Amino acid sequence: MTHSILFFPQQQLTLPLMLAVGTAVIGSLQFGYNTGVINAPQKIIEAFYNETWNDRYKDNIQKTTMTTLWSLSVAIFSVGGIIGSFSVGLFVNRFGRRNSMLMANVLAFIAAALMGFSKMGASWEMLITGRFVVGLYSGLSTGFVPMYVGEVAPTALRGALGTLHQLGIVIGILMAQVHMYSGCFYLWYGLLFTALLPRESVFISVNKCFHVPLVLKKLRGMTDVSADMQEMKEESRQMMREKKVTIPELFRSPLYRQPIAIAIMLQLSQQLSGINAVFYYSTKIFEKAGVQQPVYATIGAGVVNTAFTVVSLFVVERVGRRSLHLLGLLGMAGSAVLMTIALALLEKYDWMSYMSIVAIFAFVAFFEIGPGPIPWFIVAELFSQGPRPSAFAVAGFSNWTANFIVGMCFQYVEELCGPYVFIIFTIFLLCFFVFTYFKVPETKGRTFDEISAGFRQAASGAEKHSPEELNSLGADSQL
Ligand code: GLC
Repeated sequence: MTHSILFFPQQQLTLPLMLAVGTAVIGSLQFGYNTGVINAPQKIIEAFYNETWNDRYKDNIQKTTMTTLWSLSVAIFSVGGIIGSFSVGLFVNRFGRRNSMLMANVLAFIAAALMGFSKMGASWEMLITGRFVVGLYSGLSTGFVPMYVGEVAPTALRGALGTLHQLGIVIGILMAQVHMYSGCFYLWYGLLFTALLPRESVFISVNKCFHVPLVLKKLRGMTDVSADMQEMKEESRQMMREKKVTIPELFRSPLYRQPIAIAIMLQLSQQLSGINAVFYYSTKIFEKAGVQQPVYATIGAGVVNTAFTVVSLFVVERVGRRSLHLLGLLGMAGSAVLMTIALALLEKYDWMSYMSIVAIFAFVAFFEIGPGPIPWFIVAELFSQGPRPSAFAVAGFSNWTANFIVGMCFQYVEELCGPYVFIIFTIFLLCFFVFTYFKVPETKGRTFDEISAGFRQAASGAEKHSPEELNSLGADSQL
């Protein structure tokens, strides 16, 4: 199938397909929003905790109690995410993709209500529980959304539409950053709450079941859907033959060992790149780098983040996943070195604070070129139907755990290493570059079947196969 960089195949990008994908990625938006809001309205929330404490106990809150309450409010989101992402398989295997997403919405409603009314209820317990519940929801979404989008997308658009999950996340982060200093963050929870309503109705009306040819015609916008039907039939035949694979089986079977190792490593490459050190602590980093208006620099990072996700969306189907991921990792490593130089020489040269802004913007831009969007959607591409839900659970769990570790440890490690803290991320980035170069095959333009056939044949062959060999194995399996 041929298509150009800017003009996606028109007959495939239909309104119903865009609606189905667009409604699904509202889940990504909410995940992004709750990521971005983490270190934002700290002062407002602390004032609220203090007020409530005062009302209840007629005394000011102790500093250590406040620190504990605040840390809990921050970290409990990731704990919810770890549990939620690990449960993805349980839901989709029992209820299917679309129904699982609909059910998860209940969690978003509960979380929005808990957080939205916490002030009225004068209860920090409600806010903290709300963050845990929205963490559960976000963990589930990071599995459901890329899985669903990967499956409804036509092969030639799988990468571009898959990137929309990340676009939802970054827009959510940007929304949180922009209004974080406005002080009306409770209002925003209300807005996000209402954003859920259209999602429900569109989901129900657009794609009751996208496996039915009629609905496929709607999604594809063509009368002849025989090629797609053929692929889906092939996949569902495969699914009948292929029983559901459990998580332990994923690791035991030589068939899945390589794709699961790739999925885990790509998730780790996303988080251990240090991206969330920037998103959780950027204002502090900019302050240390002597930037005059750290708030605006933080918002600037959010804008660059969004802009480069859009760039990736348009080039991913042409350049491919592997090359973009490699480029992103190398660019991030270079930017991290630049940032270290800027922070180390700050005392000597004032203009180093500008260099630190350039370095952070470049770091974020390279992240969104590859390591941001690709690890999320490549999991759907690496696995066929049987092992896919378990693979998403393992991948999501790895991602959220690494996210939690970076979020918790960065400040302490930064105290120890000072301006050299980003060297640690540089080392990780270079290791992941080498791994990707030697182990990750290109998945662009190949059907799910071709990709898993490539791994199957590689697993059955005695020798090791390079990514190029895996590519050709996948192509051969078509013949
Ligand atoms: C990815 C990461 C997330 C990060 C975001 C930044 O989606 O999973 O942790 O905050 O990118 O854009």
